[in-house]
Amino acid sequence: MPKKTTVRDYIRTIVDFPHEGIMFRDVTTLFADARGFRMAIDQMLHPYAGMRIDKVVGLEARGFILGGAIAHQLSVGFVPIRKKGKLPGAVISEHYTLEYGEAVVEIHDDAIQPGEKILVVDDLLATGGTAAAGIKLVERLGGEIVSCAFVIDLPDLGGRRVLEKLGMDVHALCEFEGE
Ligand code: PRP
Ligand code: MG
Repeated sequence: MPKKTTVRDYIRTIVDFPHEGIMFRDVTTLFADARGFRMAIDQMLHPYAGMRIDKVVGLEARGFILGGAIAHQLSVGFVPIRKKGKLPGAVISEHYTLEYGEAVVEIHDDAIQPGEKILVVDDLLATGGTAAAGIKLVERLGGEIVSCAFVIDLPDLGGRRVLEKLGMDVHALCEFEGE
């Protein structure tokens, strides 16, 4: 096996998962490797050195793993955006479109104070539907999004454009396209 030198090298591709024709980009192999995981967290933080960030918002589920580590590194709080019905307190909700059907994400309505500077974190940017719903939730609570950080961007699916149209700064550590 060739030596792994970049974050991208640690990401495993599973062919035909969850169905035929899909190349699933599996970050569990990145997270499981001590060097790979640290490299990913360090590189995700790099663009924000010296910037004010009050809270990290992570998108369920893989965004929790990255977002928790990033919040700890910044010594700020972490706020989860969860799939419908999981959060125990009062929530606000956003619907978004998936490949098949609709989904709903929620945030506690007291999790962010107006004017707080927020970093949104997830593992992967595909169509941008999940992140866009998360962005709307944060903005409805008055949070000011500093940036959205991902490990992987799939440029063929156009998510970056969707988020940039919402006025977002977008960072991803690597891309997989047309493979
Ligand atoms: C995947 C991925 C992103 C989202 C990206 O999550 O982790 O959150 O899809 O797709 P999009 O840009 O087209 O919205 P998934 O919904 O599979 O759930 P999980 O993170 O809970 O496994
Ligand atoms: Mg996800």
